[in-house]
Amino acid sequence: MPQIKLINIVGARPQIIKASAISRAIRNYYSKDITEIIVHTGQHYDKEMSEVFFDELEIHKPHYNLGVGSAGHGRQTSLMITGIEEVLIKEKPDCVLLYGDTNSTLAGALAASKLHFPIIHIEAGLRSFNKTMPEELNRIMSDHSATLLFAPTNAAFKNLICEGFRPENSPPYTINNPKIYLTGDIMYDNTLFFASLAEKKKEGFLEKMSLKRDNYVLVTIHRDTNTDGIDRLKEILLTLKFLAEENDIVLVMPLHPRTIVSLKTRLEDLYDELTHCAYLKIIPPVSFLEMILLEKNCRMIVTDSGGVQKESHFFRKPCIVLRNETEWVELVNNGTAKLTGADPDRIKQEFLSFMSSHSVLEYPGFYGDGKTAEFILNEILLMFEKE
Ligand code: UD1
Ligand code: UDP
Repeated sequence: MPQIKLINIVGARPQIIKASAISRAIRNYYSKDITEIIVHTGQHYDKEMSEVFFDELEIHKPHYNLGVGSAGHGRQTSLMITGIEEVLIKEKPDCVLLYGDTNSTLAGALAASKLHFPIIHIEAGLRSFNKTMPEELNRIMSDHSATLLFAPTNAAFKNLICEGFRPENSPPYTINNPKIYLTGDIMYDNTLFFASLAEKKKEGFLEKMSLKRDNYVLVTIHRDTNTDGIDRLKEILLTLKFLAEENDIVLVMPLHPRTIVSLKTRLEDLYDELTHCAYLKIIPPVSFLEMILLEKNCRMIVTDSGGVQKESHFFRKPCIVLRNETEWVELVNNGTAKLTGADPDRIKQEFLSFMSSHSVLEYPGFYGDGKTAEFILNEILLMFEKE
């Protein structure tokens, strides 16, 4: 096997968690073959949005932190491109690994492709078919800059083919002759790995939160469409409060800083009302191990997060998706996730239906065998072997 230098670009919370699957697989199986350099753009910077994951998930501290922080899309992305470009010129990696669809992903794609460094895109091919989402633009541009594309689901793989990617391409792979793979999801690897660890390391967490197994609903909200349009955010939160009171069930809400900012600055009265409601536990973002415990033991999940939607499936929990469309279409086709947007009637209907559902829901294995990170690394090494 050749010895290669790989740059792993992270920035937002879910990317740090995803990178832990790759870092772990490098440590366990490929430490002689792959030198990993972690570049953190600094898109997320609060302790509970960043540092906590490096500590808890045993990821090497970033070799570079660009410290970009929050800003409008243009400024944030351009600062990241500048910083990443400098690192790439200095480090001259063999390839650049990108995850998902954030501005950090896009910045990595633009910086690396223009300097002709091969890009590996993990979570390729996902589409919402809604180009008003910043993430949709980021995904499309990142996929079309990549050399190896790892699609986590059948639907994602088919999307790539519809956009002109050819599964029959043969090596040598380049940006003009990319290779697409149908793999599983590295977040499933992570769930399998961390679920039992969470029980041990966070023993007593639920009790400390006064939560009873199967007797609370887990809620996360952070999508710009839900947090920035305050009427929409208000409607969602008042609907959830109503449902909690009517159904005598606690809602646990580890809220993203973006959502807290909107509440504190634009919906102060509502924030006050919510924090005084006995049925609502609004808490800061939790660590990944704590999140796993919350997901594993809840009755149902309500979310607009991509990652949390899938984790609802890994832990066999019904899920209400506060969006009008999803990239993880297999969950909706399976009937265990329901798209409600921010429509109070639809949210109520699906909530009540999941609360009263006595039918046994099925959770087929859509996301691979838990060894996706190893598969990806092996394919990366093969690409360099064939050169
Ligand atoms: C980003 C991604 C989104 C992903 C999410 C994961 C883009 C375009 N969006 O959205 O796809 O689902 O991360 O969580 O890249 N903030 C803090 N502290 C932090 C980070 C953010 O207070 O550590 C606040 C700031 O007010 C900031 C706002 O959150 O303006 C939004 O942060 P940003 O990184 O721009 O987008 P996310 O909503 O986090
Ligand atoms: N997550 C976490 N703590 C929280 C909320 C989420 O560890 O308080 C994890 C969650 O388990 C999932 C990932 O963060 O693995 C999802 O990130 P997020 O919802 O921010 O982004 P998305 O997946 O929508 O891009």
